[in-house]
Amino acid sequence: MAEQKKLLRALAGEIQDVPPVWMMRQAGRYLPEYRATRAEAGDFLSLCYNPELAAEVTLQPIRRYGFDAAILFADILLLPQALGAKVWFVTGEGPRLSTIKNQSDFNALGSVEAIHETLSPIYETLKILKSELPKETTLIGFAGAPWTVATYMIAGRGTPDQGPAHALKDTDRATFQQLIDLITDGTIEYLAKQIEAGAEVVKIFDSWAGSLKGQDFHDFALLPAKKIIQALNARHPNVPIIAFPREAGPAYEGFAKAVGAQCLAIDTKVDLEWAAKVLQPDSCVQGNLDPKLMVEGGDKLISETKRIKEALGNGPHIFNLGHGITPDADPANVDVMLKALRG
Ligand code: CP3
Repeated sequence: MAEQKKLLRALAGEIQDVPPVWMMRQAGRYLPEYRATRAEAGDFLSLCYNPELAAEVTLQPIRRYGFDAAILFADILLLPQALGAKVWFVTGEGPRLSTIKNQSDFNALGSVEAIHETLSPIYETLKILKSELPKETTLIGFAGAPWTVATYMIAGRGTPDQGPAHALKDTDRATFQQLIDLITDGTIEYLAKQIEAGAEVVKIFDSWAGSLKGQDFHDFALLPAKKIIQALNARHPNVPIIAFPREAGPAYEGFAKAVGAQCLAIDTKVDLEWAAKVLQPDSCVQGNLDPKLMVEGGDKLISETKRIKEALGNGPHIFNLGHGITPDADPANVDVMLKALRG
């Protein structure tokens, strides 16, 4: 049977007059219905581990906007928790974790085999979504890339320059490499289970890939992504992968082919003419509207939406933002964007 879902068609290389569309962080605090469900759950992590409520918030933006894809509601920091790190969220500030400063901190982590015990509610969320999503909506699973997850595990929080992770990499390479390998192996098992539970596509978020340069980018952004994708391909050969080495700059070139991804997600800084010429011949491209425009709205939102649609319109394209929608975005601006895109 020919594939009917618009997002899967784009990932298979089809060029469409109107591209499929979804938004990073589409289930989130800019939506009043999300804030209500989160309050019901108690806090963010309780929401992630409550399959009924996590499925509910995943579905909210689909009901409101009819996006072509739903992304599992969870977080990249659930895997560290499943590996034995302590993880909590400070409201208004962000995530906090126990830190990995040396070999003995690393040794205290658990094994990959044990992760499913913690993560089983996430697979349950996917099973619920599989049965409740409209038939035209694609279900996306995800994980953080090893480098990005490691930056949080090492520092114990988000950092502007990923300094602590760079320091461990440069002073205790053996411990750092073991951590990257553990996260890589855990990610393979986590994503494989997500696929078995119903994810039709998986996305690998390397939010801090841009701070890796030269050989480090190759060793800690490109190689782990390649290893994860190869292992997933061996088990689930027909599941497309979206890679997001955010702010990779010139290193975006050739990345999709090198790692074996069907789609490359691009941040707001990527030039569209360059992306069309250099990236789209290799893979589908997803992006790259500036999330700020979802706050500001107006004519610029409309003209930028149309400019992206046109610039990436001669190759396979999934319309999205260049990064997650922010809590101060106006839900009405999403309708403005969709009207500009779909007519
Ligand atoms: O996109 C989606 O709608 C799916 C769910 C999703 C979340 N986080 C929910 C979330 C996804 C795919 C993520 C990925 C994620 N999480 C990344 C990679 C993408 C990126 O944004 O760069 C990272 C780095 C994280 C770690 C994380 N989670 C941080 C740094 C924060 C705090 C910052 C913030 O926005 O508050 C979170 C919290 C988080 N993850 C929220 C949501 C909806 C907000 C939590 C809340 O409701 O208070």
